[in-house]
Amino acid sequence: MPAEISVGIHDLSFRTTSFVLPHTELARYNGTDVAKYHKGLGQLSMSVPAVDEDIVTLAAAAALPLVQHHGADTIRTVVLATESSIDQSKAAGVYVHSLLGLPSQIRVIEVKQACYGATAALQFAAALVHQDPAQRVLVIASDISRYDLDSPGEATQGAAAAAMLVSADPALLELSGTSGLFTADVMDFWRPNYRATALVDGKKSVAAYLEAVQSTWRDYVLRGGLPLEEFRTFCYHQPYTRMAFKAHQALLEECGVHTNEETLHKAVGTTTVYNKVVGNSYTASLYLALAAALDNCHDLDGETLGLFSYGSGSVAEFIAARVRPGYRSHLRAGEHRESVNSRQTVDYETYRELSCQALPTDGNTYELPHQTRGPFRLAALRDHQRIYEASS
Ligand code: CAA
Repeated sequence: MPAEISVGIHDLSFRTTSFVLPHTELARYNGTDVAKYHKGLGQLSMSVPAVDEDIVTLAAAAALPLVQHHGADTIRTVVLATESSIDQSKAAGVYVHSLLGLPSQIRVIEVKQACYGATAALQFAAALVHQDPAQRVLVIASDISRYDLDSPGEATQGAAAAAMLVSADPALLELSGTSGLFTADVMDFWRPNYRATALVDGKKSVAAYLEAVQSTWRDYVLRGGLPLEEFRTFCYHQPYTRMAFKAHQALLEECGVHTNEETLHKAVGTTTVYNKVVGNSYTASLYLALAAALDNCHDLDGETLGLFSYGSGSVAEFIAARVRPGYRSHLRAGEHRESVNSRQTVDYETYRELSCQALPTDGNTYELPHQTRGPFRLAALRDHQRIYEASS
């Protein structure tokens, strides 16, 4: 393996759902001051899936442009990371592999560790490319975040998938070898197999996240990572976008740097533009923050970004990534804005009805109504199987 080989993200694409619920609607229903959502949490709206959308259709929609643009010939591995898995055994990526018409000579796996999974997938992908620089790896983060209705977590729900093509000599972002790592056995957020919605101790989860920020940074420094001044901006996992501000403040405190709202906004404000209207997309959230930075910050050529990944339970990682010169001509900013802006707004009643519709589990045949505006749909359930198709 040549030591100087550069490996990272060659292309990045995300897609979200067909429907959107503005937080003004949620506030209208539950009487909360909407400023709590807009300012306190930093959320304006949340993506809501149609009945025929799930993590597979979102993942395939996000990855489709990458496969169409780069072809599938060099892809040898697909890794799909998710917290909201649809099967205890079969990897969701196998359905995606089929929908995208990928070649058979590919390995497909699913990885899980709450919202951190996609970062583990990225590291796995980078290691495979280091091993064989001719191959590319398709990493997909896809999640639908669901909390109990009328619970404090409800306002932070969302859904999206981010697809990344990992390769040698990447066009967008080069990953640095050094990571700061942290694991702690903490029950801050979890979802037993029998539940469709997450259980969460909200305040504990915020504290656990902030402890992980400081601990990963300490480990990163210990392992010879770059100094704070080298970083142009920081992309944090964003369960709600105010969390990125809290996280950056914690990191600066760890470095002994005093800060104010303006400094924080300068460092992380741009990274929140997608997540504040999409909501929490768990594994995809950090990569929507990255997409927001790349699409909306000016002139990042050669600049270093800090990426902080947190998955409750908990596992966290801090990595540095250098933006490749000329990256702007490889961005998909227009597609990303279109995915967000083309969502159909629903009122609270419609959102509630959609949220209460659980898929039947009796093994009979059910055709699902065609609601999605995306390129793929969950068409039916038959004999305990999910039947997917391209939307016509
Ligand atoms: N105007 C402006 N701000 C207001 C306000 C108003 N009228 N009313 C309240 N606020 C502010 C509060 O002061 C508070 O700000 P601070 O966080 O700076 O103190 C903020 O709005 C939230 O208010 P509360 O703490 O009262 O809100 P809450 O009790 O509803 O809980 C929450 C908030 C804990 C985040 C809850 O939404 C939750 O449990 N979310 C799910 C868990 C989560 O997202 N955890 C984050 C870390 S874990 C993680 O990152 C993994 C993951 O993806 C889940």
